[in-house]
Amino acid sequence: FVPKSAGGSGGGQVAKDALGNDVKSNAWLATHGKGDHSLVQGLKGDPTYLVVTAEGKVENYGINAVCTHLGCVVPWVAAENKFKCPCHGSQYDSTGKKIRGPAPLSLALAHANVDDADNVLLSAWTETDFRTGEKPWWK
Ligand code: FES
Repeated sequence: FVPKSAGGSGGGQVAKDALGNDVKSNAWLATHGKGDHSLVQGLKGDPTYLVVTAEGKVENYGINAVCTHLGCVVPWVAAENKFKCPCHGSQYDSTGKKIRGPAPLSLALAHANVDDADNVLLSAWTETDFRTGEKPWWK
């Protein structure tokens, strides 16, 4: 399944790295391999994972790292191919879909697109959550 993109380069906010610099797709992909999940500053400053696809591109969605239980930032555990919250043990699959509570909900999504200047843009995800088929709870 390929989620719909927000469409072109219209709108969105440039993802920022840990130093506050704009995230550029080519530079990011030079240091982040296939299957990588790494944090950037996303919408409203929320820590957000960018994902690298099996084709070595920036995935067209980002995953908000804030646990839906009580708000801890959830680390990605590459060896287990999932997110595991250190606070109370919730788990999410590689797309951020909840697989174990106490978290009540999957991690929030944002659209991720690369604009003409190679910036990684994040924008609000208001469509159906492709992981659950439900309306986004974070809207
Ligand atoms: Fe993540 Fe409680 S805050 S499991």
